[in-house]
Amino acid sequence: MKNTGSDRFLWGVGTSAFQIEGQIDNDITQWERQGRFRRGVFDPTVGDATDHWRRWEGDFKLLKRLGVNSYRFSIEWARLEPEPGRFDETAFDQYSRMIDRLLEYDITPMLTLHHFTHPTWFHGSCPWHKPESIDAFRRFVANVSARLLDRVPLVVTINEPLVWLLAGYADAKFPPGLKDLNLLMQALYNMLEAHREAYDVIKASHPSTRIGIAHNFIVFKRARLNHFIDRHLKPLIHRFYNMMIPEAFEQDRLQYTFPLVLSFDRAIKLRDKIDFWGINFYYRLHVRFRFNLERPFEMLFIPRSGEGTSDLGWEIYPKGLRKVCKWLKFTGKPLYVTENGIAAEDDSLRVDFIKKHLAMLAKAVDDGYPVHGYYHWSFLDNYEWLEGTRARFGLYHTDYSNDCARSLKPSGSLYREYIKERLSSGQNPSQFTKS
Ligand code: FCB
Repeated sequence: MKNTGSDRFLWGVGTSAFQIEGQIDNDITQWERQGRFRRGVFDPTVGDATDHWRRWEGDFKLLKRLGVNSYRFSIEWARLEPEPGRFDETAFDQYSRMIDRLLEYDITPMLTLHHFTHPTWFHGSCPWHKPESIDAFRRFVANVSARLLDRVPLVVTINEPLVWLLAGYADAKFPPGLKDLNLLMQALYNMLEAHREAYDVIKASHPSTRIGIAHNFIVFKRARLNHFIDRHLKPLIHRFYNMMIPEAFEQDRLQYTFPLVLSFDRAIKLRDKIDFWGINFYYRLHVRFRFNLERPFEMLFIPRSGEGTSDLGWEIYPKGLRKVCKWLKFTGKPLYVTENGIAAEDDSLRVDFIKKHLAMLAKAVDDGYPVHGYYHWSFLDNYEWLEGTRARFGLYHTDYSNDCARSLKPSGSLYREYIKERLSSGQNPSQFTKS
């Protein structure tokens, strides 16, 4: 029986396959072998990530102990389709057992299909800026849908399309390592088409599955309050980064113009091809204009909120969580906070972070924003894309020098207690902070 999770607020934690599983051969490890990936600058020993592929059963017991009623995780495309059209049934079996175990534990799975990584053959034969990418993704999703999605009520097709595209097509930090904004827009267009095709493929067999995109949101602020160009810059960046994709779903049009730099406008049929928006929210950024056509602005972390910063310098800005809900109101869609967390060696920062963000979540719910779940990033310390293992986002500590042993942090206990209280005292998350 499918546990839809639709009748209860979902309290969860999130991970992605490559960041925790280990033993994966994908586009990133391929790049790394070629000496092109920066992974390893900080930590050369991260090959097995957290070894979750081997220890998933123990890890799921830890999830249960944490008391979450939902878990967001991703499946590794490279593992499942190591060659175009050849699917690895053993890997599918393991993911299938994982889903069954979650359901046994009464933990609603939210499955992400694409979380930054690709099979090694992908960029060479069908990179996202080519239409063949849409066919490749559809084939993958059709196979996943047939084997796994009968038991998965919530699916995220693509995690943070723009974050990945900026890394792969603007900054050349991720494969395919390009710096071309026109190609980026073309690739985004294809990703959104691929999302639509995935939506239709899944719905054809599983009409009650709810399908969304996890979109990264940043609150932008001008760096110089009385600077004329900074003032005009901010809305341009906000529209590109935060609103362009959600608006494309309402307007059936992917459109963006940045004077002298970028212009894209094309029809795309997306209306009603999304059931919820996933909000990934971490920080606020300040934008400052500069006289440079190639990069006419810079982004800065300026800790003006008084809430402090993470180990990565990210400005903590709890108010942003509610702001993002407001930005998405025009979509009329249900919302899930699919990621929210902090890199902090000092766990007391995370304790503070969680308290403040959950208070803000409660406010958003009280204000009537349709938030249906919250997933803290992350379940356990893991491999962070460009930072390696030094960025600790986990509610569980991972001891990399001791066989990746896990132990609950005080922030984890706090989250567990909050969830417990909340689940035993009714369904309104605002009771959370009022108690
Ligand atoms: C998000 C990613 C996630 C994790 C967090 C810290 O952008 O989706 O995988 O790395 O940042």
